[in-house]
Amino acid sequence: MTSPAAPNPDGIMARLKAGTAAQHAVAESKPLEAALIEGSIGRAQYEKYLSQRWLIHRELEAATDRALRTDNRLTSLGLPSLYQTKNLEADLAHLQSNLESIRPLPGATNLIQEIQKAAPSTLMGIYYVFEGSKNGARYISKSLAKGGQTALRYLDPHGEQQRPIWMKFKADMDAISWTPAEQDQMVKAAQATFDAISSLDDAIHSG
Ligand code: HEM
Repeated sequence: MTSPAAPNPDGIMARLKAGTAAQHAVAESKPLEAALIEGSIGRAQYEKYLSQRWLIHRELEAATDRALRTDNRLTSLGLPSLYQTKNLEADLAHLQSNLESIRPLPGATNLIQEIQKAAPSTLMGIYYVFEGSKNGARYISKSLAKGGQTALRYLDPHGEQQRPIWMKFKADMDAISWTPAEQDQMVKAAQATFDAISSLDDAIHSG
């Protein structure tokens, strides 16, 4: 018998992982990501990073709320328990940021437009990238904590539960019957999201 969380080699999650492996390698090697994982990012840049993520998550989660009302296949994913907008707001309040002064940088603008018009499959391709990024973010939060950073709710929202939550997300995504066309849209959206994040990382790093 297979366990419910066993990886499905033919499922959408395996396709998403394989279809974005090259983009993950690019994203991971960006100078901003290196500064995050080394714990050497400055306060101003960290604040900028969280601010841009706040703009994105706000749209992503509003769009997800809308999709949950129209596509009941998404219900099983328990998405609202994974939301990050409030965590970002807590971190930004901790850093004494003014949310009203935040403006989108290149990368964020395009992504926000894509989110606003996304069908559920496209939306879940975008969602996948941010949900998956919690895996590496947990390592980043440990480095930043060593440097004294305490605004870490976004980077480590689930603590020791990160692994089981990710395994559940994967199993639930694989259990949904996505059409072949939806699967193609999802992979394309995930690839475009990685590209947007990489260009956003560059804009933050050079700014
Ligand atoms: C310092 C930078 C990064 C490091 C060290 C890192 C590290 C990791 C690690 C170790 C995993 C594997 C988790 C596992 O399967 O156990 C992972 C997965 C993932 N990361 Fe990153 N990551 C980084 C940056 C990013 C960025 C910038 C994004 C996108 C915003 C991202 C998106 C993802 C996604 C979507 C997955 C899931 C892959 C899958 O389908 O299994 N990562 N990352």
